Amino acid sequence: MDKIKFVGIAGSLRKASINKALIGAVKGLAPAEVSFEILEMGNLPLFDQDVEMANYPKEAQALKDKIVAAQGAIIATPEYNRSIPGVLKNFLDWTSRPYGHNAWAGKVVGVTGASGGAIGTALAQYHLKNILLYLNARVLGQPELYVNNAGQKISEQGVLTDVATKEHIAKFWEALLAEVRRGV
Ligand code: FNR
Repeated sequence: MDKIKFVGIAGSLRKASINKALIGAVKGLAPAEVSFEILEMGNLPLFDQDVEMANYPKEAQALKDKIVAAQGAIIATPEYNRSIPGVLKNFLDWTSRPYGHNAWAGKVVGVTGASGGAIGTALAQYHLKNILLYLNARVLGQPELYVNNAGQKISEQGVLTDVATKEHIAKFWEALLAEVRRGV
């Protein structure tokens, strides 16, 4: 039987990113029926509407093709100034354009994020959900997945060690797959 395809992305370019660690943990906890590919966005140019029609970058097209081929996605966003990082917005802008060729429509999307602070990217996640809803993604409402106080839950080697968070990720996956199976 074909696997259910998911892509994942962390909204950070930083090597030691706790959100990269989180998306790695999400991949590690993916159910057996899921194939999960982590996307990299570090080679994307800055979005420029002058080139989106005539000269759409191959790097953006490759990412877009993977999103289109997947049934769902999980995005782990850092919180920057109570919103999402510019690099993540840039990725979403490229992959939603040109007009009429939005890769996100109908995709089941789970939003998560990790921060060292107490509110665990709650504000960034809601900004991200707003964008994804506009793009007509099927954004998972519950359960929410906030990884706060990440310094106590993710090791310096980038390994998620917190048992309660791992259990929560398993429930997150269950809800995402239920939504995929529900169809539209
Ligand atoms: C931050 N950080 C931060 N943290 C937070 O909880 N709320 C916030 O609004 C911000 N704002 C913010 C702005 C900028 C420009 C930077 C660089 C950082 C801290 C941030 O959560 C922390 O650096 C994380 O480790 C970033 O995620 P990655 O790169 O580790 O995945």
